[in-house]
Amino acid sequence: MTRVIPETEMSGSTTDILREGYRYIPDHMEELGTDIYRTRILGQKSIVMTGPEAVELFYNERYFERSTAIPPRVRSTLFGTGGVQVLDDRQHRHRKAMFMSLMTMPRLQLIAEIAAEQWENAARKWEKEKTVVLFDEAQKVMLRTACRWAGVPLQEKDTAKRAKQLTELVDALGGVGPRYWKGVLARHSVDEWMAEVIKQERSGKLRAPEGSPLRVISRHQELDGSPLSTHTAAVELVNIIRPITAISWYVMFGAMAMLANPETRGRLATGEETYAHMFTQEVRRFYPFGPFLGARVRRNFRWKDMRFRKGELVFLDIFGMNRDGRLWEEPDRFIPERFRNWTGTPFDFIPQGGGDHYLGHRCAGEWVTIEVMRESMQFLAGKIDYRIPSQNLHMDLGRIPIMPESRFIMTDVRLKR
Ligand code: HEM
Repeated sequence: MTRVIPETEMSGSTTDILREGYRYIPDHMEELGTDIYRTRILGQKSIVMTGPEAVELFYNERYFERSTAIPPRVRSTLFGTGGVQVLDDRQHRHRKAMFMSLMTMPRLQLIAEIAAEQWENAARKWEKEKTVVLFDEAQKVMLRTACRWAGVPLQEKDTAKRAKQLTELVDALGGVGPRYWKGVLARHSVDEWMAEVIKQERSGKLRAPEGSPLRVISRHQELDGSPLSTHTAAVELVNIIRPITAISWYVMFGAMAMLANPETRGRLATGEETYAHMFTQEVRRFYPFGPFLGARVRRNFRWKDMRFRKGELVFLDIFGMNRDGRLWEEPDRFIPERFRNWTGTPFDFIPQGGGDHYLGHRCAGEWVTIEVMRESMQFLAGKIDYRIPSQNLHMDLGRIPIMPESRFIMTDVRLKR
């Protein structure tokens, strides 16, 4: 027996998706009373799905591929060309192993230590300023952290410009017009910067520490033994530096969570690691960042008696799953303790993708994100005092990536002595 996937007539145009933003998928799911529907998105036949079983299916590479699924607007900004995101099968696993080799315990500890040091340096400067916009400052702190960790030189005079460009790559995701074009220009500039760094490392002009991302990427060999082209190596280095800089979104969300739930700040300030971990997990669940993921069906197949046709696009909801009442009790409340005895699977909590880190496309930097966030949250809660003036922190779910108007303003920042 064949079950028919419910169909809906939506224009599915870029404009519609970008207008409805994070609610584009969950709202239509609710309207249709389903976890899966067929529609047209960006002019192409598409299936949209949600739920842990759908996640498990989505990460089965027998049925789906990425190389043909990434739209040009994403390749010209956020991803760049030739990086790990657009590879499949053996090539993907080989390149992904390169990224995962950087995620050892000592290297994760190292990045947390660097982040702590960078936060303290920044706070010393904030003491001399009247107001501080946390999101803007966090971008610079995260970029300095990323570059130190990766072995990439960064001059202080370039920090603000580079942080802005790396943020523009992410901001272009849901942007049309100027926001998109800023992303395209930023991509050219950042790729050039990293290509120069790769060339210098390869020529011996620059000595990157053993085991650092710069060293590992510039020496990486493809399956046939050849080195990565300068361009591809640059794109992969940006794949490290850009997302670490983007942790600034989660840092700002964490500060907003402390403001909205003042008791959490006191708990974080005690330095209790388990609480900081639960808080970080809840920030990644509660606040919208990545909206959905896309892949393309590589062969006709049936799943739960439903037909998937070769060539169709498939979209997997991230935001809706993070707020799904079947997965989370009181999903619209911020409750770090929900993660105390949480027995999740690789398929039910997917703010940074699902499945296996080594075998599939799940975020290579998920552990870095968690480590850096834990350190950053303990710093904001326990190492500084600050005041929060009245400001507009409203978040518009129609904007991808989401960005509160005031970007979290703090005044009278003082390091606790
Ligand atoms: C700011 C927090 C972050 C978020 C929200 C995030 C989110 C994501 C998502 C949704 C994916 C796609 C998963 C998929 O396609 O199935 C991804 C992939 C990836 N992320 Fe992250 N990420 C973050 C931080 C990081 C960090 C810190 C790094 C590196 C240190 C990183 C490196 C990567 C790489 C290399 C991929 C591609 C993996 C692949 O295609 O196999 N990300 N991330």
